[in-house]
Amino acid sequence: MERIFLIGFMGSGKSTIGHALEKCHSADFADTDHYIEKKHQRKITDIFAEEGENYFRELETEALRTVEAKIVSTGGGIIERIENISVMKARGKIVYLAASFEEISRRLEGDASRPLWKQDESGRKALFERREPLYEDAADYIVQTEGKTAEEIAECILDYM
Ligand code: S3P
Repeated sequence: MERIFLIGFMGSGKSTIGHALEKCHSADFADTDHYIEKKHQRKITDIFAEEGENYFRELETEALRTVEAKIVSTGGGIIERIENISVMKARGKIVYLAASFEEISRRLEGDASRPLWKQDESGRKALFERREPLYEDAADYIVQTEGKTAEEIAECILDYM
């Protein structure tokens, strides 16, 4: 099986779907945020606060280049660097988990763990609208996730593979 990179906005379900794929396909799974936290022994929020976003983006690119798992969920900002898209394409297929801004807002209500979600509604919406076409352009395959269970989404992806 070819490697799958799951991309999408914060709260689009990348880790959940990664785990669902891991279960039904018995393939190994990694999440780039966890990979970075484990490798550098630091929380993403601390890296953002102490070193800034650009440094975090470098660690993300390095994670994409080196991660060996067959199913990889990525951070929502993975499409912020054009270079990341070619790294992913060279190492596997890119699957975009799409959801509307309204749905994402429902899922992330009260979330304080994501530095880029901690801004006002208009800032969040502007970020979503800027990123949405970037995910669409990068994707080899797009799954609309709303109204589907994790298992149904995993099945769509496996059918595509
Ligand atoms: C980010 C999303 C987060 C994490 C970091 C930055 C982003 O991952 O990588 O807080 O830029 O959208 P999730 O998409 O898993 O929340």
